[in-house]
Amino acid sequence: MIESLVNIFSKDGVLTDRSDLAIWGTDWTRSYKVAPSAVVFPKKTEEVVALVRLANESGFCLVPSGGRTGLSGGAVASDGEVVVSFEKMNRILDFNRTDQIVRCESGVVTQALQEYADDKGMYYPVDFASSGSSHIGGNIATNAGGIKVIRYGLTRDWVLGLKVVTGTGDVIDCNRGLIKNATGYDLRHLFIGSEGTLGFIVEAEIRLAPKPVPQRVMVLGVNELHSLLSILETFQAELTLSAFEFFSDLALAKVLNHRSLQKPLSSENSFYALIEYDAKDDPIAFEAFQKTIDLGWVSDGVVSQSDAQAAALWSLREGITESIAPHTPYKNDVSVRISEVPGFLSDVDQVVNRRYPEFDVCWFGHIGDGNLHLNILRPDNISSEEFYRRCHDISPELFDLIQHRGGSISAEHGVGLLKRDFLSFSRSPAEIEIMRKLKSVFDPNNIMNPGKILR
Ligand code: MLT
Ligand code: ZN
Repeated sequence: MIESLVNIFSKDGVLTDRSDLAIWGTDWTRSYKVAPSAVVFPKKTEEVVALVRLANESGFCLVPSGGRTGLSGGAVASDGEVVVSFEKMNRILDFNRTDQIVRCESGVVTQALQEYADDKGMYYPVDFASSGSSHIGGNIATNAGGIKVIRYGLTRDWVLGLKVVTGTGDVIDCNRGLIKNATGYDLRHLFIGSEGTLGFIVEAEIRLAPKPVPQRVMVLGVNELHSLLSILETFQAELTLSAFEFFSDLALAKVLNHRSLQKPLSSENSFYALIEYDAKDDPIAFEAFQKTIDLGWVSDGVVSQSDAQAAALWSLREGITESIAPHTPYKNDVSVRISEVPGFLSDVDQVVNRRYPEFDVCWFGHIGDGNLHLNILRPDNISSEEFYRRCHDISPELFDLIQHRGGSISAEHGVGLLKRDFLSFSRSPAEIEIMRKLKSVFDPNNIMNPGKILR
C-alpha cells in the first residue's frame, strides 16, 4: 500500500513515522486510540481521485484531516486508515467581485479567508476560537457555527459551490456558485455536515458579506442562569445583535488563570453574558442595560471603549477551550430551540447536580442561538479512560432531556465518534436508515471516514 501511495504522492508526500502518525491521526479530542498507517498530502484534485480509486481497489480506508481542531473525533484514525491531510491544498484561487464569491481549496485556514476577505473590502463572518488553525474544508464538513451565528448563520449559509471527490472517485461540482438553482436535489447541502463520510471536499465557493459597521462589546455579570434569556430578549427587542454568548464563573476563572488576565468586573457573578452590537446603537444598548439592572437580572457591566478592549473582552470567551483543555473535558455541545432554552437549562442543571456531584462542570456557549457547551472537567485523580467511560454512561440521561425538547445532541461540533452511539436521541430510525442508504450510494465500499456518524 505504501508503495502505491508513494507512486501517487512521491516519497515526501507520504509519512509513516510513528510521531507523524500521532500528530496527523487525531484532532483536539484526546480519548481515542490513534493508529493510522500513513499520512498523505495531496496537492491537487487528481491526486485525491487517484487515492480514492486506489483505496477502493486495495480495500483500505481514508480519514480526512484539516486543521485538526475537531472536538468529536471526526478526524481521528484509529484503525490503520490512511489520513488525507488537506494542508497542502491551501490556495485561494480567485475572487469575483461581481458575484462576491471567493473560490478556494479546502485546506485554506479560516483566518486566511477572513483576512483575504478583509483585503478585498469584504467580510467572511463565520468565526470561532479555532479560526487560526481550522480549515474551510473541515468547517464545511462539520457545518461549523461559532460566535456570530445569531446574525450571520452557519457555514452552510455561505457555501455557494462545492467540488467533491465522492467515495467512488467521481468528481462532482455542486451548485457552481449559483444563487438560484432549482434543478432537483441540492447535493451541496448533503456534503455540508457529512464529516467526510460521503466524499472529500477539495474546493469551495464561498460568498462574502459587506464589511460590518464598527462593533461594541459588553460583558454583563449575571447571577441566575435563567436570567440570561430575559437579558437576550431585552436586548434583541431593541437592537440587532452580532453575538450573545455566555460563560460561567468557573469558565472565567480558568481563562483568567490560563492567560494571566484581569477580572472584567469587580463584582463576583455566577454567569457572564457577552453581547456584541453595532457601536452606533450605544444609546439603545445602554438603555437595555439599565433595564436589566433595574429588573435585577444584571449586577454590573463593562463596555469596550476601543477595538483592543473589545478583543480583550472577547478573549475571556474565546480562551475557554484552551484553558480547560488540561482537564481533558468531556464535551457536550447541545442545542434546543431558543424558546426551549430556559426550561432546558433548569432541567440540565438538575441532572448535572445529581449525576456529576464530584465533577466540575464548566458552562459556556452561544446561548443566543440555543447552543450550550457543557464541559465536564476531569478531576486529577481519575484516568482519562475511566472519566470518559463514566461521562459516556451518564450521557443518555442528558440526551433524554434533549430528545424530549426536540433538540440536538451535537449543535456544531459534529457527531464523529463522540456522539455516534447517541445519534438516535436526535434522529429517528427512518432518518438513520436513509443516512445509511445515502452513505452506500456515495461510498459503497465504506472507505470514506468509516465509523464516523454511523457505526
Ligand atoms: C466554542 O464555542 O468555543 C467552541 O465550540 C469550542 C468548544 O466548545 O470548546
Ligand atoms: Zn461553540
